[in-house]
Amino acid sequence: MCGIVGYTGKKEACAVIIDGLKKLEYRGYDSAGVALQKNGRLVIAKGAGSVADLEAKLGDQFKAVTVGIGHTRWATHGRPTDENAHPHSSCNDEIALVHNGIIENYRSLRQWLIDEKGHKFHSETDTEVLAHLVEEYYAGDLLAAVRMSLAMVEGSYGLVVLSSHEPGRIICARQDSPLIIGLGEGENLVASDIPALLAHTRRTIILEDGELASITAQKVDIYNADGCLIEREVFTVTWDIEAAEKGGYDHFMLKEIMEQPAAVKETMRQRIDTTTGKVNLSELDFTAKELSSLEKIHIVACGTAYHAGLLGKAVIEKLAGIPVEVDVASEFRYRQPLLKEKQLVIVISQSGETADTLAALRLARQKGLKVLAITNVVGSSVSREADQVLYTWAGPEIAVASTKAYLTQLVALYLVALYLGETRGSIEPELAAEIVSGLKSLPGHLKTILSEESLSSLRPYCDHLAKWESAFFVGRNLDYPVALEGALKLKEISYIHAEAYPAGELKHGPLALIVRGIPVIAIATQKAVLDKTLSNIHEVNARDGAVFAITQEGFEDVARQVDSVFYLPSINDILAPVLSVVPTQLIAYYTALARGCSIDKPRNLAKSVTVE
Ligand code: G6P
Repeated sequence: MCGIVGYTGKKEACAVIIDGLKKLEYRGYDSAGVALQKNGRLVIAKGAGSVADLEAKLGDQFKAVTVGIGHTRWATHGRPTDENAHPHSSCNDEIALVHNGIIENYRSLRQWLIDEKGHKFHSETDTEVLAHLVEEYYAGDLLAAVRMSLAMVEGSYGLVVLSSHEPGRIICARQDSPLIIGLGEGENLVASDIPALLAHTRRTIILEDGELASITAQKVDIYNADGCLIEREVFTVTWDIEAAEKGGYDHFMLKEIMEQPAAVKETMRQRIDTTTGKVNLSELDFTAKELSSLEKIHIVACGTAYHAGLLGKAVIEKLAGIPVEVDVASEFRYRQPLLKEKQLVIVISQSGETADTLAALRLARQKGLKVLAITNVVGSSVSREADQVLYTWAGPEIAVASTKAYLTQLVALYLVALYLGETRGSIEPELAAEIVSGLKSLPGHLKTILSEESLSSLRPYCDHLAKWESAFFVGRNLDYPVALEGALKLKEISYIHAEAYPAGELKHGPLALIVRGIPVIAIATQKAVLDKTLSNIHEVNARDGAVFAITQEGFEDVARQVDSVFYLPSINDILAPVLSVVPTQLIAYYTALARGCSIDKPRNLAKSVTVE
């Protein structure tokens, strides 16, 4: 989620790094910093703020320096402050490093380093333990020290390290977080993303998980997880800078849709205990008494986050047995909701800055209720004002139409529902275990849904849809909120008027609008109501509507009823909404593409709505 650039060569390292960081800043970061090798010492300059702020701070002081590393931070562990900005250094200031990812066992390592080894820490970050570990293991070879440190670590990392004792050498390592080496003439670079490299080279090596590299101006050595020196293929980048920012995709929206398997995995990371299989939300500190006395939950949000809330209601009611009301934030604040003791308010907001959601949060707190925020932005207004926060780890979302943030909101809500159900003893252990194992299968299933083959299977229907000015989305039970979200995505980016209906409501009005060819997207993943949904599909078929059904493998009947069908991998019905929404995102995307719309920035809409 952060931006990393490292340089070793003959040029002014500061200028190369600052320029590279600026190329990564389009994602919106909160702090920046560099570490430079100068006359056998490491100099660090960092702080909260933008890369431009950092550039101004650096001025011309380091023109002669030719080796350094830099970072732009999107806060995860610890607020966006000067201390928490990267690079982080060891006690003796001889090691400096930048890191992207999460060190899951940082608490125990930190305690060990403080208690047993006398290290002093300066930040709240998980990353800082790495600097102290490398110092601890350093015995003249930085590569060896990094390897030994990483053997102690659980989690994900794109890591770039400098030592004051090894002039001109940069060590880097990757696990679940991208790092790309740029190969130059008499210079080499490393970055977390290709745009930072393109001003210098198009020849790159994309590090794989488990690999480490030693980089000097003349040489790049790559080692596999077993420590063996390996040969890696050179990948020549042909994209221009704009395409590179989008990871080679045409739009941020598609890039973000493709990032969903990783975003979902990241949001579950550390929150499911691998040994017990139980949900572990140690970041929340509700008392068991508070949770067991809860009589009602209010979920409040706007837009896509509101649709996540509708599913949250269904899931919390099913798994934890607590009644839930869901409100659009702008309605909640003016409807004088009955807020009483023994109630909890959950607000959901990707940005954490939506004015109406923030006002609802303040209202709830004024009335003495506790507020749990589910948000994607550390340090956002919502995260600062809520009593407790559960972060979604989707990473920066650029496209106005939310996709990966929505999926991670759903995952966060499943985790909350399991946490409530387990603490209150209201969920059968077998069901809890089934849901946990289903959650773990989501990243793999999402990858299947996002395969080339699936994507191309959607295109013909989207070409048909693109010719219409009106469409319907229908579904029953948990499929209905997915229909709402699918319709919202379609109208946001393709400007086609789309309405979502509970499938059973079709005959109470909208059926009058069903004519030959009109697109109707039917979501049919819920076994208990499958026959009912199929009979609604019949009603549309009988009037020659063009139905596209989204269903689960094993529901073979559906294919017999409709012309176009998209089969999702089979999963527990409760979890199906996490999968079924993805084809609706893709339908919106490819339809908007066919209509030549401005996909990432739809007309009249904003990513973050900070006014009423
Ligand atoms: C805007 C965005 C939507 C988002 C909604 C709520 O309308 O375009 O994508 O769902 O705001 O934003 P939030 O940041 O609170 O989730």
